[in-house]
Amino acid sequence: MGRLENKIAVVTGSATGIGAGTVKLFAKEGAIVICADINDDDNHKTVDEIISAGGKAEACHVDVSSEESVVEFANHLKEKYKHIDVLFNNAGVDAEGGKVHEYPVELFDKIHSVDLRGTFLMSKYLIPLMLGRRGSIINTSSMSGRAADLNRSGYNAAKGGVTNFTKGMAVDYAREGIRVNSISPGTIETPLIDSLAGTKEEESGRQFRETNKWITPLGRLGTPEDIGHLAVFLASDESAYLTGEDITIDGGIMA
Ligand code: NAI
Repeated sequence: MGRLENKIAVVTGSATGIGAGTVKLFAKEGAIVICADINDDDNHKTVDEIISAGGKAEACHVDVSSEESVVEFANHLKEKYKHIDVLFNNAGVDAEGGKVHEYPVELFDKIHSVDLRGTFLMSKYLIPLMLGRRGSIINTSSMSGRAADLNRSGYNAAKGGVTNFTKGMAVDYAREGIRVNSISPGTIETPLIDSLAGTKEEESGRQFRETNKWITPLGRLGTPEDIGHLAVFLASDESAYLTGEDITIDGGIMA
């Protein structure tokens, strides 16, 4: 019997990176995984892989930054599944914007609309599917939510917001048996890193990875599965007494 046997788990940003790694682990542990992303091609590939391996999954086109899209998704879930047990708010975007006086307003709004507002919208409209039963919400912050990055203050602000939003939600819903925690990953090898620093093949990307390995006490970048294993624990009943916590998982950088 899996650790998430028959739990209905919604994961946003499931098409690539941390989300794709996590949904496969969720499915292996027996969850019915609903994969929500705007990248339909990669999302369908992820779901096909799960189904070929004998797991249960569904791909849904959801833009977490759009209230209309999230409401439509919530209605679909209510009709098809009646309730959900787990919500992993993982979808996120990041980019360098420069110092604040140069930072494009559109980029600040974009990062906030996906990373912070998206977490709010998904929680607001999916929590009703958890009320009256226990549930676990996992939000995705970052070590960038606790410490600064050069030229990425908009991301620092959004992820700092996610960490504290998590705490507010945890207190609001503790008596309802809904636990809310956040994960703060360090540097994880995903397409987001490719877009931020360059791919492994590019000189800038190669240097970025070398520097990050060097500053990480465990001596390597994280993998999507490193984060996925923590998400399995937070989604499962093994973490039944854990709520309102932000867990850093960064190979020791912040130690
Ligand atoms: P990724 O770029 O591989 O995955 C992000 C996913 O979110 C993609 O599948 C993308 O299509 C989806 N997405 C973007 N906007 C969306 C929207 N409006 N609605 C629905 N889906 C949307 O990146 P990665 O690294 O897997 O990121 C996952 C989360 O982890 C993000 O919240 C990111 O900020 C966070 N994170 C990543 C770190 C890293 O080093 N890779 C470090 C700390 C946090």
